[in-house]
Amino acid sequence: MNMLQLFFGFVYLSAVSQLVSLTGAQAECPVQLNPQRVVVRYGGSVAANCSTSVPHKGMGWEASEGAVPMTKNQSLITWRVPELTEWDIKPFCYINYKIGNEDQCKEELPVTVYKTPDSVSISTVNHSGPMMEGELYELQCDVHNVAPVQNLTVNWYKGQTLLDQTTFTDTSETPVNETVRLLIRPDRADEGAQYRGEAELDLGAEGPQPHPTISSNPLNVEVYYKPQHSSSTETIIKDDKVMLDCTVKAKPAATYTWDHLKEKNSSSVLKSSALSSGNYTCTATNALGKDSKVFIVKSTGIRPTFWTVLTFFQLSVALITIM
Ligand SMILES: *[C@@H]1O[C@H](CO)[C@@H](O)[C@H](O)[C@H]1NC(C)=O
Ligand SMILES: *[C@@H]1O[C@H](CO)[C@@H](O)[C@H](O)[C@H]1NC(C)=O
Ligand SMILES: *[C@@H]1O[C@H](CO)[C@@H](O)[C@H](O)[C@H]1NC(C)=O
Ligand SMILES: *[C@@H]1O[C@H](CO)[C@@H](O)[C@H](O)[C@H]1NC(C)=O
Ligand SMILES: *[C@@H]1O[C@H](CO)[C@@H](O)[C@H](O)[C@H]1NC(C)=O
Ligand SMILES: *[C@@H]1O[C@H](CO)[C@@H](O)[C@H](O)[C@H]1NC(C)=O
Ligand SMILES: *[C@@H]1O[C@H](CO)[C@@H](O)[C@H](O)[C@H]1NC(C)=O
Repeated sequence: MNMLQLFFGFVYLSAVSQLVSLTGAQAECPVQLNPQRVVVRYGGSVAANCSTSVPHKGMGWEASEGAVPMTKNQSLITWRVPELTEWDIKPFCYINYKIGNEDQCKEELPVTVYKTPDSVSISTVNHSGPMMEGELYELQCDVHNVAPVQNLTVNWYKGQTLLDQTTFTDTSETPVNETVRLLIRPDRADEGAQYRGEAELDLGAEGPQPHPTISSNPLNVEVYYKPQHSSSTETIIKDDKVMLDCTVKAKPAATYTWDHLKEKNSSSVLKSSALSSGNYTCTATNALGKDSKVFIVKSTGIRPTFWTVLTFFQLSVALITIM
C-alpha cells in the first residue's frame, strides 16, 4: 500500500464517519434529559427535567405517574413523582417538532426502581447439629423480596473471607425471592467459623453509594474431628520435669489409653521420672477415630550426671575421712 492509497483511504473513512454522525444527529430528538437516567427506591421521590432549545409546537411528559400535559410556551418541563410506587414505569418526554417525516419525537427516561430485601437468612440444608470433618454440607441463603434481581449479588462469607458470589440473569423488574446454595467441606480449622450470606444491590453510578447491603445473621458451624498428633513418635529423656504429653485436639474431646504401662492410666500426660526406659504407646480416641503416638523413653543423659555426682560425693567423703 503506498502513501496515496493510504491518504485516500483516510479521506474516505472520515467522509463515511461524518455521514454517519450527521444522519445520527438528524435522527436524534432535540431534547435533553437531565439526569439521563434515574435510580429510585420504591416509594421514594424522583424528578427529571426535559429541555429543548428548538422552537416547537408543544412538549410534555407521558408517564403512568407524574405525567406533564403538553405545553407550548415552555422549553423546560419536569417529570416529578413524590412517592413512586410502580415497578416498571417508562416515562418519556415528547416534543412536537418536525424531523424527517415525523411530526413528533420522544426520548425515554430509563428508570430503575429498587427495593432492598425484607430479609436475608442462612441455614443448613437437610442437616442439624455438628458437621463431620471432611464431609460435604450445603448452606442456603434466602433473600426475600428484592428488586431488581439483575442488580443483585449474593456474597458468601466465612468470617471476613469472601467465598463465593452469585449474580442473576432474570430481568424481572418486580420483587423476587432468591435462594442460593453453597457446598462446604468443613475441616478442623473451621471449628467456630461463622458463615453468612449477604445481598448487595449494585445499581450503577447513578445508584446509591456505597451499595445497599443486607447481611444474614452469622451461622456458627460446629465441626467434629478425630484426634491427630502432629508427630507419631517422640523421644523423651527421663527427668523430673519432663512429661510424656499425649494431649491432642479433638472434638468431642479424646480419651487416652497407654500401652506397656504396669497400671492402667487414662491421663493424657505421664511423668517420665516415674517410668523405666522403653517405648510407651498412647492412643487418643473419640467418636470419629483414633490416633497413636509412641514415646521412646531413654535414661541416657541422666545416668552419667547421676554417677558423676555420686563419684564426686564419694570422693569428698573420702577426702574428709582422710583429713
Ligand atoms: C430541573 O430544572 C430546574 C429549573 O431549571 C432546576 O432547578 C433543577 O435543579 C433541575 N433538576 C435537575 C434534576 O436537573
Ligand atoms: C404558559 O401558558 C400558560 C397558559 O396557557 C400560563 O398559565 C403559563 O404561565 C405560561 N408559562 C410561561 C412560562 O409563560
Ligand atoms: C432434603 O430432604 C428432603 C426429605 O428428606 C428431600 O426430599 C430433599 O430432596 C432433600 N434436599 C436435598 C437438597 O438434599
Ligand atoms: C416471596 O416469599 C414470600 C414469603 O414466603 C411470599 O409471600 C411471596 O409471595 C414470594 N414472592 C414471590 C415473588 O414469589
Ligand atoms: C444495574 O442497574 C443499572 C441501573 O439500572 C444498570 O445500568 C446496570 O446494567 C445494572 N447492572 C447489572 C449488572 O445488571
Ligand atoms: C497416671 O499418671 C499421672 C501422671 O503421671 C499420675 O499423676 C497418676 O497418678 C497416674 N494414675 C494412675 C492410675 O496410675
Ligand atoms: C522403640 O521404638 C523405636 C522407634 O520406633 C524402635 O526403633 C525400637 O526398636 C523400639 N524399642 C522397643 C523396645 O520396642
